[in-house]
Amino acid sequence: MSEADETTADTAPWMARVLTLFPEMFPGFLGLSLAGKALEKGIWALDVLDIRDFARDKHRSVDDAPFGGGAGMVMRPDVLDAALAAARGRSGEAAGAAVFLSPRGRLLDQALVRELAAGPGVTLLCGRYEGVDQRVLDAHGAAEVSLGDYVLSGGEPAALSLLDAVVRVLPGVMGNEASPAEESFERGLLEYPHYTRPADWQGRKVPEVLLSGHHDNIRRWRMAQAEQITRERRPDLWARRCRAQDEREG
Ligand SMILES: C[S@@+](CC[C@H](N)C(=O)[O-])C[C@H]1O[C@@H](n2cnc3c(N)ncnc32)[C@H](O)[C@@H]1O
Repeated sequence: MSEADETTADTAPWMARVLTLFPEMFPGFLGLSLAGKALEKGIWALDVLDIRDFARDKHRSVDDAPFGGGAGMVMRPDVLDAALAAARGRSGEAAGAAVFLSPRGRLLDQALVRELAAGPGVTLLCGRYEGVDQRVLDAHGAAEVSLGDYVLSGGEPAALSLLDAVVRVLPGVMGNEASPAEESFERGLLEYPHYTRPADWQGRKVPEVLLSGHHDNIRRWRMAQAEQITRERRPDLWARRCRAQDEREG
């Protein structure tokens, strides 16, 4: 039995609250595989609120035209405020950070994933249309988080991706065999390449060192591969790693 199977949640679950105009998108793929099992076990919990339920007029409108003109519609602050207050009020102390998924936010990376996983949970606001009224973000001190430098049609795919990344590092979600310690980004490096059977596939051979059984050599080879791949593919990550190393060495 793996560590993940043995673990049951004996503490309060890590709490994800999602505010969306498309509640049917959740839990989506998070109901399957590792995240789905962890949800069943109560390691994390999901509370999805339909923003439209907080609209006040008979048309249940959640958006309006932008002041100053321009294309598209903007999500109303009064409706979002009521939804955020309800979501966060429901969880009391365990409300965690309020996050607006937004292309102008801080890029989601493994450090932020770890930071969120260490807290009690998160409240995710998924935008639609042109975006949301700035005042409600200011009033709730919402942090903006981006999935990447491209524009999605809504915050839901970003919320699902953020939750997937956070849930897999919660204690008890991954088994021993899937230790995250050597994964991409955990050490500021991309991961080394993997190989499995057959050792010779279509004339392509597995690197000799991996068949040697010599653990030190394997570890050194993997580290050298991770460094080379990071240098070649992500000079930004490599430069950051070098800077951190220089600082450590004074
Ligand atoms: C069509 S987009 C609005 C884009 C916005 N007018 C802009 O230019 O930045 C609608 C919503 O999708 C979400 N979204 C779009 N791209 C995203 C990204 N890269 N990361 C996170 N959320 C994103 C945001 O919640 C956004 O409010």
